[in-house]
Amino acid sequence: MRPCQALWLDGDDLMVVDQTQLPFTYGTRRLSTSAEAIAAIRAMTVRGAGVIGNVGAFGVYFAVRETQGCWDTVQSLLPPLRAARPTAVNLAWAVDRMTQVLSSDPASGDPLIQRARQEAILIVEEDIERSRRIGEEGVALITAISRQKNGQPVEILTHCNAGAMAIVDSGSALAPIYTAHQQGIPVHVWVDETRPRNQGAGITTWELAQAGIPHTLIVDNAGGLLMHYGKVDLCIVGADRVTATGDVINKIGTYLKALAAAAHGVPFYVALPWSTLDFSCLDALREVEIETRSPDEVLWVTGQDDSGAITRVRIAPTETPALNYGFDITPHSLITGYITERGVFSSGAIAHLAP
Ligand code: MRU
Repeated sequence: MRPCQALWLDGDDLMVVDQTQLPFTYGTRRLSTSAEAIAAIRAMTVRGAGVIGNVGAFGVYFAVRETQGCWDTVQSLLPPLRAARPTAVNLAWAVDRMTQVLSSDPASGDPLIQRARQEAILIVEEDIERSRRIGEEGVALITAISRQKNGQPVEILTHCNAGAMAIVDSGSALAPIYTAHQQGIPVHVWVDETRPRNQGAGITTWELAQAGIPHTLIVDNAGGLLMHYGKVDLCIVGADRVTATGDVINKIGTYLKALAAAAHGVPFYVALPWSTLDFSCLDALREVEIETRSPDEVLWVTGQDDSGAITRVRIAPTETPALNYGFDITPHSLITGYITERGVFSSGAIAHLAP
């Protein structure tokens, strides 16, 4: 497997970047059991739709290894892995794909352990290629705006982190931005902080800074005013699941950005690999479990103090409760198009595509 920025193989173990420590510390963790894979996904040591799918695939491989290939025991270990986080479809998709491949004629061919390892690696390799293609497909949108602006920087707003730390190896929403930058097209990125876990403030900014891409951090509520001022040419966000009707489940706050973009005539694109499409889902409101996370993520913030120490502080009265939905649903009517590895599709067209 080619090493990628968020994860790589070390012997037969999976090394992952501990994303809970970014941007202050670049730390890595070694995963070698299915229980460790589940714990890393639940604790958001790894996060982002594609990366949790990759770790899920390796979790299946670890389960096969732990049980010396006893398929019945492996199957009993998979439900908690598949459900470690409920909203992004890539995790269930990857576990189901591993199950399907490994349960087909298990007695024939290579040993189960070898097949599990190969398939997990293949899933990661495919994501690397998908991410590269999403960059190539999406850069045309940025190039067209750049021409209209006579080379002035294209102002792009993004939400959460749909970069290298979310989908190997250059993300979904950030992939066209990386490609544009590599091609010398001037861009500037408005990065939503993305409360409560601040994946924009901590991870997207870290990625863009490393790549030398001009960017500015904004509070989650600033996008509307920026659009009013004409300072946003284009929004590109990622997705955790896209339904058969084209509705988009993505990090909480995406819907409000899409509403603001529609009100101001700003094109709103969703970038996703094909594995994020859930053709079995017709009604996101009824069928998709929106992850509800600990209220503490809303009530407390973590950051670095002046001495360099990582500190956690409470921001609301102790008697105040909090509600913490991780994702929201953006109706397809608000979406200009979908940037995928198979091309850019307009809203509505996605519903007519075969799986
Ligand atoms: O809760 P997270 O950080 O795992 O959320 C997933 C995301 O990073 C975003 O919703 C992203 O836009 C889609 S993942 C490519």
